[in-house]
Amino acid sequence: VGHIDDVQELRKVKPTTIPERFIRDKAERPELASILSSPSNIPVVNFSKLINGNNRDEQHDEISKLRTACEEWGFFQVVNHEIDLSLLEGIEKVAKDFFMLPLEEKQKYPMMPGTVQGYGQAFVFSEDQKLDWCNMFALGVEPHCIRNPKLWPKKPAAFSETVEIYSREIRKLCKNLLKYVAMSLGLKGDVFEEMFGTAVQAVRMNYYPPCSRPDLVLGLSPHSDGSALTVLQQGKGSSVGLQILRENTWVPVQPIPNALVINIGDTIEVLTNGRYKSVEHRAVTHRENDRLSIVTFYAPNYEIELGPMPELVDENNPCKFRRYNHGEYNKHYVANKLQGKKTLEFAKIPNK
Ligand code: SIN
Ligand code: FE2
Repeated sequence: VGHIDDVQELRKVKPTTIPERFIRDKAERPELASILSSPSNIPVVNFSKLINGNNRDEQHDEISKLRTACEEWGFFQVVNHEIDLSLLEGIEKVAKDFFMLPLEEKQKYPMMPGTVQGYGQAFVFSEDQKLDWCNMFALGVEPHCIRNPKLWPKKPAAFSETVEIYSREIRKLCKNLLKYVAMSLGLKGDVFEEMFGTAVQAVRMNYYPPCSRPDLVLGLSPHSDGSALTVLQQGKGSSVGLQILRENTWVPVQPIPNALVINIGDTIEVLTNGRYKSVEHRAVTHRENDRLSIVTFYAPNYEIELGPMPELVDENNPCKFRRYNHGEYNKHYVANKLQGKKTLEFAKIPNK
């Protein structure tokens, strides 16, 4: 990806030109009506009620909300998540400061083709593939062996330390949420923790500059996540940009200040034999406003073999996926362009 495909540079040099490579085919274009329509309130889960074992009734109700969110939406927002506001602000600041650096500085950490680490455009495999109106910066964080230390930027100075502390807090949140996801399925709280080994964690920062024709481009192509859980932080003052596919309609998500958006990834869909849904989503852009999002993916270790849990398979719910290795799944994921809910196809057992 040269400077010519860097959306921030494009925007600087020719603010009203949209190169052909960004212009979507008609069927893929986001309708202005969906970009401008009033956003939906997705389910809200109150984390402090979830973890408060002293009030069993309240906890039970909150676990029910979590169950409904996972079954019917695949998305929810967590409030009272106990992560310091200063840390949310801190990660946002280093992310924004990084994206605002000169291109030459950012290109010291280039996204290598076929990987999802570094700065640039990920999931690009051919010349005729459409590009997203987005710059990304992605890093593997845990376990340490997936880190590429050369890609951890020296500027801004606080970047690495902030990512480190932020990731530790988000990891705790993911472990906790998975405990209640398990309980909401009537399973022991520690099933996922025990199954996942040393979980893989990666962070991806997305910066969407304004776009003079938001009706022609996509900020991020439709896809589902490969993770078990994904945690999305949307920048303060960012415009609405995340849309989820619900009953064949793209529904914009209304951010709640200081809340985190959580979504179920393909891994949990497989483990629950399809009961909890990994929902397709995309991002759109805006004419005047930019948008920043910070996304954490939390997944099993690559060595772990996965398949529907026996407790969730019976005559009425026949097994929908074959067993596979998470590393194998991940290879499929990074070797393809983002394209709807496609990666899981390789593991689907055809209906008889
Ligand atoms: C993502 O799906 O990775 C991010 C979408 C967003 O920016 O809201
Ligand atoms: Fe995503």
